[in-house]
Amino acid sequence: MKYLVSGGAGFIGSNITKKLVEKGESVRVLDNFSTGNIDNLQAVINDIEIVDGDIRDFWVVKKAVEGIDYILHQAALPSVPRSVENPLTSNVVNVDGTLHLLEAAKSAGVKKMVMASSSSVYGDAEELPKHEGMRPSPLSPYAVTKLTNEYYLKVYWELYKFPTVALRYFNIFGPQQDPNSAYAAVFPKFIEAFLRGKQPTVFGDGEQSRDFTYIDNCVQANLLAATNDDICGDYFNVGCNGQFTLNETLDILREIIGCDIEAVYEDERAGDIKHSYASIDKLAKFGYEPEVEFKEGVRRTVEYYRKQLGL
Ligand SMILES: NC(=O)c1ccc[n+]([C@@H]2O[C@H](COP(=O)([O-])OP(=O)(O)OC[C@H]3O[C@@H](n4cnc5c(N)ncnc54)[C@H](O)[C@@H]3O)[C@@H](O)[C@H]2O)c1
Repeated sequence: MKYLVSGGAGFIGSNITKKLVEKGESVRVLDNFSTGNIDNLQAVINDIEIVDGDIRDFWVVKKAVEGIDYILHQAALPSVPRSVENPLTSNVVNVDGTLHLLEAAKSAGVKKMVMASSSSVYGDAEELPKHEGMRPSPLSPYAVTKLTNEYYLKVYWELYKFPTVALRYFNIFGPQQDPNSAYAAVFPKFIEAFLRGKQPTVFGDGEQSRDFTYIDNCVQANLLAATNDDICGDYFNVGCNGQFTLNETLDILREIIGCDIEAVYEDERAGDIKHSYASIDKLAKFGYEPEVEFKEGVRRTVEYYRKQLGL
């Protein structure tokens, strides 16, 4: 089968790409390298096709989907704070880009498109764990873009019978996540700070919680969603079914890394949600089962950054 991984040079896309190559699948990556990095693909560079292009350009997208069986659509401008600062760019990349892929894929004989959505669509709903039956309540432009995309995916299935699936990722972490961007996720930032003997920054009191999900579980969910014909026209949580506060996460990292560095606490950020914890029952009915639990994922991730940073 031939897969198109949009955003394949990014954290999640590159991990998906490597798994597909390992399984002997044929892969084309479409990426404009804005937040992704070619280094993430070095291990498979001779086994894949790379299209350096932008999903905002419909003609680039149209060409990129030719001959493709499955699209695993990861390209987007991630980050809530980025979208709060610049909602227009987030909207154009995330929404127009997704619509371009849907429209091009529909007439190109693509079998299915799976899209990276986000737990942020739930907003600050009090009920936990968050399950797919709950009403979405986005709190940031980023969350609005992801929810809009989910509606587009549903419409493309219901109106045109083009098979689509949205996966609502809950705080994915693991190797190749960028610690350096101004909008980096907490995990790589915390790990890099501790390994360098520096104080990590926490926005808020650190009592906000997340269902941190190791990357392998997210890769598994993507492959399952693409190839199982019964998973179609719907959206699913992808989490680890666990809940850790940032303060607990810092304690676990101190234990694994072997340090006692305190964090610096700053004001909480606009658009951030307080608690995030996934029910994974809906996708579990189709065989999804987290294969790497939180602490093991943390160990693997620390190991990766130790090697990567030579620390
Ligand atoms: N990491 C998480 O915890 C998480 C949680 C929820 C949802 N997501 C979603 O998962 C997807 C992947 O996220 P990630 O963490 O790997 O981020 P990432 O920034 O590492 O990857 C995104 C990739 O998309 C590419 N890209 C951005 N704009 C593009 C454009 N206009 N044209 C072509 N390529 C473009 C980037 O260069 C990058 O390689 C995103 O859609 C993100 O919104 C991630």
